[in-house]
Amino acid sequence: MMSTTEFKILGVAGSLRGGSYSTQALSLILRNAEKHGAVVRLLELGKANLPMYGSGQVPEQVSSAVQWADAFVLASPDYHGSMSGALKNFLDHFFEEFAGKLFGYVVASHEKGLTVMDQMRTVVRQCAGWSLPYGVSVNGEQDFSAGSLASAKVDRRIKMTGRDLVVYGRLLKAQFQSDLAGTEAETFVAHYR
Ligand SMILES: Cc1cc2nc3c(=O)[nH]c(=O)nc-3n(C[C@H](O)[C@H](O)[C@H](O)COP(=O)(O)O)c2cc1C
Repeated sequence: MMSTTEFKILGVAGSLRGGSYSTQALSLILRNAEKHGAVVRLLELGKANLPMYGSGQVPEQVSSAVQWADAFVLASPDYHGSMSGALKNFLDHFFEEFAGKLFGYVVASHEKGLTVMDQMRTVVRQCAGWSLPYGVSVNGEQDFSAGSLASAKVDRRIKMTGRDLVVYGRLLKAQFQSDLAGTEAETFVAHYR
């Protein structure tokens, strides 16, 4: 039976490029998550006016979107085997907001982008977030054709990600909230009470 509690997912687009493949894949994941009952929002870092960490205030729209989210999908281009500077800068601004939340990942790369995926996972682990045990890798020129996704394999992963984010994200959220309200000391959640 589907839970009636609202489950909110924020997609963070780390490419500033018009026609970005990682952003297109991210949008498809969000659409699939909606089909599984999630409420979704897209944060495009190219339009967010987020200052470099330490040089100014986080815009209200960005901080409220992060506070709002129960789960996240991070999307990045592969830049020299790393996540984009825009995405890293976004992550630098937050810490406790990510604790106990589930994260999914998308990378646009010609080489699968596994090092990019690892870097995003490292940041999330450092902030006490949970990661899906797989990610979506898209090779734009091969996997997209005339503006649409043309790869059945990537399509399956995208659908899996949308589904798993909602199903596993709900479980993690419920347990985190229960532990937060509880008194048990032997859980990482005790730190956030
Ligand atoms: C500065 C820069 C560095 C890049 N480095 C890599 C790389 O190391 N490996 C790779 O496969 N692609 C690399 N690319 C290609 C991008 O990952 C690719 O174009 C990707 O589609 C960009 O993501 P987007 O479509 O979401 O903007 C690089 C592109 C740029 C602009």
